[in-house]
Amino acid sequence: MALEPMMTALVKELVGSMSAQEDRKADLHDLLAMPLPVIVIARMLGVPEEMRDTFKEWSDSQLQGMNMVDPEREIAARRAMSDYLINEVNIRRDLIAQGHDLPNDLISELTQAAISHEEPLTDAEMLSMLVQILVGGNETTTSLITNLVWRLLEDRSRWNQLVENPDLIDVAIEESLRFDPPVLGLYRTTTCPVTMSGVEIPGDEKVMVLYASANRDPAAWEDPDTFRLDRDLNQLRRHLSFGFGLHVCPGAALSRTETRIALRELIEKFPTLELDGEPERIETFLLWGKRTLPVKW
Ligand code: HEM
Repeated sequence: MALEPMMTALVKELVGSMSAQEDRKADLHDLLAMPLPVIVIARMLGVPEEMRDTFKEWSDSQLQGMNMVDPEREIAARRAMSDYLINEVNIRRDLIAQGHDLPNDLISELTQAAISHEEPLTDAEMLSMLVQILVGGNETTTSLITNLVWRLLEDRSRWNQLVENPDLIDVAIEESLRFDPPVLGLYRTTTCPVTMSGVEIPGDEKVMVLYASANRDPAAWEDPDTFRLDRDLNQLRRHLSFGFGLHVCPGAALSRTETRIALRELIEKFPTLELDGEPERIETFLLWGKRTLPVKW
């Protein structure tokens, strides 16, 4: 699937639905930042469009699971999502067994890779990968888009700067990732004793790695607590918002591309965009993003 043309057409459609609002007001979260990554991932996985809302619900309840808001609902959603995904994998396994062509999507690629691998992946491993792709890529990209637009509109001179100079889009995206990381931090367990910056951490200890804190470390960043559009792009990419090392986020390029296309279209279509009230924060404590972003133009 040629992703960029598909994403560009989708962004135009979604931004078009914003422009169509007669009162020149919209919730940018609902009309663009939320649907964009959900539809892109659903299309990549080969999930039919009519299941989009169900998919979004499943994905949301996995994240709410971190807050233990309604465990029964979250377990039920997890089961429904797992049943759906494993059924799709089994459909593709049958097609392979019967020598038929597979649909051109990510579930097919994973199923094929899982079968041809020396040690075929188990259903649980396949499921874990599919769920991570689904859940890991939705709310995070939505948060990147809402955090970015919010910071740019919070001080309208920033939005104007981008309207005048769209070449700043990549710097704005990386500065948003540094300043407002969609994943504030994650947990790790030490496998052996380790000393870091003079602090001894025993083996088998739980630690919380705070990307948000590293991204504002005054030893690494000049003027860390200021959102700036004059930073060097290569330097900026040292932020830790996609993690680091072996498990660094595999969706980084995808989310950056979606956000770049969305921001380009927004500054072109809405040079006069402004905030229309305070946005609301998503509840999940490990994540940082907006669940509403009221704007007008
Ligand atoms: C702005 C958007 C995103 C942010 C901020 C983000 C952030 C992260 C972070 C912090 C990690 C943990 C890295 C580590 O453990 O060192 C991660 C892992 C992961 N992300 Fe993302 N992510 C984003 C978008 C996506 C997208 C679009 C996808 C998939 C389509 C995705 C799929 C994954 C997966 C599968 C992992 C687990 C990798 C592993 O454990 O080896 N992410 N992401």
